[in-house]
Amino acid sequence: MAKFPNFLIIAVLLSAVKCTDVGACLSENPCVCDIDEYNKIDLTQVAQQLKDDEFLEDFDGAGNSVYFRGCKDGTFNATARKLNVNSTNPVFSGSLMIVNTTYVTFNYTNGTFYNTTAFNGVQVGKSAQIKFTAVEGQKSSHQIVYKSGEKVIARIELLCSAYDKSFIKLINAEGTDPTLTFTSRYACVITHHPGMSTGSVLLLIFFISVVVYLVGGCLILYFIRGARGLEMIPNIDFWRSLPGLMKDGIIFLFSGCSPTSITTPETYDRI
Ligand SMILES: *[C@@H]1O[C@H](CO)[C@@H](O)[C@H](O)[C@H]1NC(C)=O
Ligand SMILES: *[C@@H]1O[C@H](CO)[C@@H](O)[C@H](O)[C@H]1NC(C)=O
Ligand SMILES: *[C@@H]1O[C@H](CO)[C@@H](O)[C@H](O)[C@H]1NC(C)=O
Ligand SMILES: *[C@@H]1O[C@H](CO)[C@@H](O)[C@H](O)[C@H]1NC(C)=O
Ligand SMILES: *[C@@H]1O[C@H](CO)[C@@H](O)[C@H](O)[C@H]1NC(C)=O
Ligand SMILES: *[C@@H]1O[C@H](CO)[C@@H](O)[C@H](O)[C@H]1NC(C)=O
Repeated sequence: MAKFPNFLIIAVLLSAVKCTDVGACLSENPCVCDIDEYNKIDLTQVAQQLKDDEFLEDFDGAGNSVYFRGCKDGTFNATARKLNVNSTNPVFSGSLMIVNTTYVTFNYTNGTFYNTTAFNGVQVGKSAQIKFTAVEGQKSSHQIVYKSGEKVIARIELLCSAYDKSFIKLINAEGTDPTLTFTSRYACVITHHPGMSTGSVLLLIFFISVVVYLVGGCLILYFIRGARGLEMIPNIDFWRSLPGLMKDGIIFLFSGCSPTSITTPETYDRI
């Protein structure tokens, strides 16, 4: 029996454990990040008590303001909020608005006086653009990122709080990568323990299969081939070589799955 495919199977089994991506979500959903089977972050309820045109707000001293309502788009009427946008339509739809003030100054030219006009720039983040990611350098912290193509509109770090009220805070509005924090109980990781998970069921099926295989194999070898003692164990040669195969599988896996990595003299002999 060729040993080569056997250690490949072991490598595949091990890679299922090793290559599971930590930090990212299992689901692609603007509201819910399933971190794993038991843990998730759910922003669905952030906008629950807000009217369609209501947002959580924050301002800094430099004329920047931010409006956020979780993962549900709302209506943002700039005129009603006394903002002066350079647009024929001052009404925006989104779940995040970052507003700045852009001053356009005219001067005296040939005896004509032009007034100073201030326009507000509005960056709109739509809920459909939300992606959950781990905060760089902090595996256990999560953030949501509004992305339009490759351009990042804003990053919002999620801060878990037991307090009933939720807050949005503008940390840095400068540059091309505005940073905010969202402090809320909806920013917490929720842990739930359902009955038996898919993983457990698969493990159980696996062990039952192993038992059936061993017991069935022993009986068949005992009665049909008249095997006795250790020879009753089915595929005894394979099980004897398993430790070596495991080693090859691990070397193969951790060397970036390069087949050249297993051409040690030992392995070569085995193959
Ligand atoms: C936006 O607000 C202004 C001022 O309150 C109001 O006149 C206008 O009708 C509003 N527009 C929409 C689409 O609600
Ligand atoms: C206002 O919008 C018009 C048309 O989009 C543009 O030509 C103009 O430069 C804008 N002004 C400012 C101050 O952004
Ligand atoms: C005043 O405005 C004119 C026309 O826009 C421009 O050419 C000139 O450089 C400005 N002067 C100053 C001092 O800003
Ligand atoms: C100012 O007026 C002079 C003379 O009338 C003219 O030649 C010049 O082009 C004007 N400059 C501007 C910026 O309008
Ligand atoms: C410029 O603005 C001032 C104050 O807002 C106002 O009193 C004045 O009438 C304006 N002038 C022009 C030419 O728009
Ligand atoms: C203000 O917002 C406008 C529109 O989003 C943007 O083009 C401009 O660069 C912003 N200005 C500053 C100082 O951030």
